[in-house]
Amino acid sequence: MTMKALMLSGGRGTRLRPLTYTGAKQLVPVVNKPILWYGIEQIVAAGITDIGIVISPETGDAIRSATGDGTQFGAHITYILQASPDGLAHAVKIAQPFLGDAPFLMYLGDNLIRDELSSFVDEFVERSLDALILLKQVPNPTAFGVAVLNPEGQVTRLVEKPKNPPSDLALVGVYLFSPQVHRVIAQLRPSPRGELEITDAIQELVNTGGNVTAQSLQGWWLDTGKKDDLLAANQIILDETLSHEISGTVDDATQISGRVRIGSGSTIINSTIRGPVVIGDNCHIENCFVGSYSSIANGVKMVDVEMDHSVVLEDAVIEKLHQRIVDSLIGRRAQLLHSPKRPKASRFMIGDDCVIELT
Ligand code: DAU
Repeated sequence: MTMKALMLSGGRGTRLRPLTYTGAKQLVPVVNKPILWYGIEQIVAAGITDIGIVISPETGDAIRSATGDGTQFGAHITYILQASPDGLAHAVKIAQPFLGDAPFLMYLGDNLIRDELSSFVDEFVERSLDALILLKQVPNPTAFGVAVLNPEGQVTRLVEKPKNPPSDLALVGVYLFSPQVHRVIAQLRPSPRGELEITDAIQELVNTGGNVTAQSLQGWWLDTGKKDDLLAANQIILDETLSHEISGTVDDATQISGRVRIGSGSTIINSTIRGPVVIGDNCHIENCFVGSYSSIANGVKMVDVEMDHSVVLEDAVIEKLHQRIVDSLIGRRAQLLHSPKRPKASRFMIGDDCVIELT
């Protein structure tokens, strides 16, 4: 039976607040492309084109209008509304009419992995597994689902966000399941945090003699739930994929070094751009230093700004700051404006959950 894929793009995104008050965390861009799209592209590259995307009532419309019916990816996308974020296994439960009896690959929409998916898909199919999970050693296992393997490398125990982690092998947000998973999910009870956990479903598959195997992930894995993870993802993708491509208008006083991509309609005046850096379409960059590992989205205006290792989202305006901006994530339409050379006072209008560090 042909495989399907299920992307999970609902949930609340509390750790990326304030950005996720107004937008979906899965649409936050890495190198000017929504995180979610990297996963979709990998799924299609592995030969799976029938994709369901689980969305929430709050951010579903934004995800649907940005991502469309799948044509741009060579896929067919079905949107599945999850009324409330009741857990990863709950998302599978409500997606059952879409999934039917097909084996499927499940991908968490805020995860990014380096490895290609096809070798995992091949192993899952060839060995007729009930579940294939991917594991990666992490320094902070309390933040993840964790798996315990026996000396033969078989999965014996799985725990979600353990206080006392029994291992440092975290569950990566990419899973393969046979339709057997629906049988165990139907019996599942909510966890202490009130969610139907996919970790518990996999444990139940193990307990009832299901054929569950773990593979370790070779390349990097990023769970982009927090600012620093997102900046790290941005750095890695810039390093590995950015091609040098200049559109728009760049004046003679501007110096560009390293790999830099500048989109159409953008104007760069009297600035230094030190790659890898991506600048989107219709930006205005004047008297700026834009240092390595910065991603500037479409429609951004920056005048008299020094910046390094930062991500600026669409239509933000930054003007005349006399301090270098580093390790920062600046939201859509945010405005950071004019301070005199030695500021005597600062005037703020800062939304809930913003973090401002004046260092
Ligand atoms: O990132 C890997 C980790 O992902 C695993 O190690 C954990 O075992 C797994 O439970 C999960 O933990 P998170 O706490 O990171 O999951 P989060 O709530 O961030 O949700 C992951 C994605 O699934 C995210 O894109 C939102 C979406 N989601 C989440 C829930 C709870 C839904 O679509 N529906 C939901 O009900």
